[in-house]
Amino acid sequence: MARPHVDRHVFVVFGATGDLMRRKLLPALYQVSGTLEEHPPAFRLLGCARQGLDDGGYRSLVERSLAENGVPAATARRWARDRVHYASLGESTAADYARLRARLEAIERAERLPGHRVFYLALPSEAIPTVVRALGAAGLAKGPGWTRLVIEKPFGTDLASAQELNRELHAEFDERSIYRIDHYLGKETVQNLLVFRFANMLFESVWNRDRISHVEVLVAEQLGVEDRAPYYDRAGALRDMVQSHLTQLLSLTAMDVPSSMDADAIRNEKVKVLAAIAPVRPGDVVRGQYGPGRSGRRRLRAYRHEDGVRRTSTTETYVALRLNVNTWRWQGVPFFLRTGKRLPEKRTEIVVHFRQPPVWFFRGPLPPEVTANTLTITLQPDEGFELAFELKRPGHAIELETHRLHFLYSEAFGPLADAYQTLLVDLMRGDPTLFVRADEVEAAWKVYAPILERPPPLLPYPAGSWGPKEAERLPGELGHAWSEG
Ligand code: BG6
Repeated sequence: MARPHVDRHVFVVFGATGDLMRRKLLPALYQVSGTLEEHPPAFRLLGCARQGLDDGGYRSLVERSLAENGVPAATARRWARDRVHYASLGESTAADYARLRARLEAIERAERLPGHRVFYLALPSEAIPTVVRALGAAGLAKGPGWTRLVIEKPFGTDLASAQELNRELHAEFDERSIYRIDHYLGKETVQNLLVFRFANMLFESVWNRDRISHVEVLVAEQLGVEDRAPYYDRAGALRDMVQSHLTQLLSLTAMDVPSSMDADAIRNEKVKVLAAIAPVRPGDVVRGQYGPGRSGRRRLRAYRHEDGVRRTSTTETYVALRLNVNTWRWQGVPFFLRTGKRLPEKRTEIVVHFRQPPVWFFRGPLPPEVTANTLTITLQPDEGFELAFELKRPGHAIELETHRLHFLYSEAFGPLADAYQTLLVDLMRGDPTLFVRADEVEAAWKVYAPILERPPPLLPYPAGSWGPKEAERLPGELGHAWSEG
């Protein structure tokens, strides 16, 4: 396979000593460098943070992080020595940014780089506007080559704050140079949703209200809030998961065929889906928070007793909701979304339920029960899909049995690359398809505005269970049931 070619550039990371950098970004950058066409290195890494480190000090930190992620010590040392630099941001004054700029330009001169730059803000969202303004003031928003700004979700906490954030970003950078990361879009199986739908006549021709009865999107997590309480307790499941990851899965499942596979053509179709979602009513949503519970023999603490969580917290750790996408293709087909922490297992899947066949023509006193076909697209942990269909059990009687055709990525291709690697290569190549556009972020917040303004009651569920019982009502009232739980 040909190695991707990217323009030689400096990859500047703000928050270079932070958790995201050490756990995710650095290992992914290391892996990516091994897949690119590179001689000399395709990118120089310039870490920036408050800490007063020199290049040597930061390189040791990089080596340690890589070693913790399984890179042999000698290889990690060579990698850090060959491409890693550090600039201290001190108190982030204008003078500090001017020094950063001088440092960046010095690296570009020494390495004969053409001035292409990535600014990756691996920072808490509240720090982003300040850094963006400072970059602009230091004359770094436009460089001699291309400049790309990367930010991570959450993109605001509601519609108004997302609009404000977009205004701040657009004051310095144009939309085409902004790359908003939702790591779900980098997952191989999520990208495959488009190929699966549009490259297979078999599925696309039945992908509509005539053939499909309802669709489920499930993102279940077994973990609790872990060490992220300060962020999570302010965010909750609706902001943390539904507005971003689940909504992305919904729009990729429901979007129409784009006019081309061009980034904007695809993103336009996704935005159209969001714009067509009917306002969510309070009765369409169930919010829950985990209480004490069990996972096998392990006792699990209640959310309110997790470290760093307020004892009176009313933050939801579970959301189930039903949505209607009022397009020609989907009108009348409910989409059921569900996510939660401390559920019995980690599982991300989209289940497409087809309609019951309209006639029954077998003889017999009682018609045998027919199970409608389902297509389950599993995004994790066992990436692949499964098509459930009916057949006649051999014998004289007419008895039906459900069987499954299945495909597993691991069987066909072995392990899949981490989502961050995919996104980093696309970023370096300048392909924005898998990044979230400003209008898409705003359209997604608009969908959930009524729930954020008037959150329905918070219901308890035992940690390790499938969530509040009340959630059964959402599909139940329409004659359906959750596939799992
Ligand atoms: C993150 C959320 O965006 O996604 C976390 O902030 C969540 O709360 C995580 O645990 C889930 O990601 P994945 O890839 O493990 O499904």
